[in-house]
Amino acid sequence: MSILKKSFKILVAIYLISSYKTLPFAYFLRFYNQVIKLLVIPKIRLKLGMKPKLGPTFKTEEEKKFGVFKPLLWKTYNSPFEVDMFFHKSNSTYFEELDIVRTYGMSTIFQKFLVEYSSHIGTFPYLAVSGVQCNFRKEIKPYEKYNVTSRVFCWDEKTLYFLSKFTLPGQKNRTACTSLAKYVFKDGRKTIKPIDVIKASGLFHPEIEKISAENYKLVSTFNDDGTTLDINLDLPAAVAI
Ligand SMILES: *[C@@H]1O[C@H](CO)[C@@H](O)[C@H](O)[C@H]1NC(C)=O
Ligand SMILES: *[C@@H]1O[C@H](CO)[C@@H](O)[C@H](O)[C@H]1NC(C)=O
Ligand SMILES: *[C@@H]1O[C@H](CO)[C@@H](O)[C@H](O)[C@H]1NC(C)=O
Repeated sequence: MSILKKSFKILVAIYLISSYKTLPFAYFLRFYNQVIKLLVIPKIRLKLGMKPKLGPTFKTEEEKKFGVFKPLLWKTYNSPFEVDMFFHKSNSTYFEELDIVRTYGMSTIFQKFLVEYSSHIGTFPYLAVSGVQCNFRKEIKPYEKYNVTSRVFCWDEKTLYFLSKFTLPGQKNRTACTSLAKYVFKDGRKTIKPIDVIKASGLFHPEIEKISAENYKLVSTFNDDGTTLDINLDLPAAVAI
């Protein structure tokens, strides 16, 4: 009896740990963990005059030149609570997870702008998500590991497009889903142009605008033919794998 009880408890514990992603409040914890780590703590350090190192790091000059397009990797797996009645990762859970992944990605790339803005200007900027699209291609099975890679895709006068891609292990072409999110940077009612945010983040280079303009041509067809599914996120320009 007691052995049975004990094994049951252990089983429950294993189940709960393995599905930590979807435990109550886990979403908020995962979300605010990113915000605190990437924005709140650096801001406090800045206030204390500790000169925190802000923004993504680059290994080479070439990498730095196209730094605004740096891909950011998020490793995870499909926990049991995310599974639907067809035994694959439920479509709706992608959106929730993408919130966290993008918070990590956007706060890393634009960390310098987001942390320093209030010290320079006195008001706080914020990121408004004005739309998210998802393109599903392959299912993700329970406990299957996958990566979510994200990067800035392009921008126009007002909106910045952020691309995320779910990939399964194995060949490059095993894309489970791609998602394109639209961001508008706001300071109260005022809209801050993406290019000004890029400059304030120390990520401007004359060549990046040409790349953005090329990538921008693919935005309108994102949902139609799934071309963005095959984009190699390791390269700044939208080259198919
Ligand atoms: C999830 O999306 C895929 C691809 O669009 C679709 O085939 C599948 O039926 C969807 N699943 C559910 C549960 O809606
Ligand atoms: C995720 O990316 C890392 C680094 O590129 C790679 O080593 C790993 O195999 C990838 N995992 C999956 C599940 O694709
Ligand atoms: C990747 O998969 C898609 C559809 O499954 C296919 O059309 C495309 O040719 C594949 N690309 C490569 C490089 O294998």
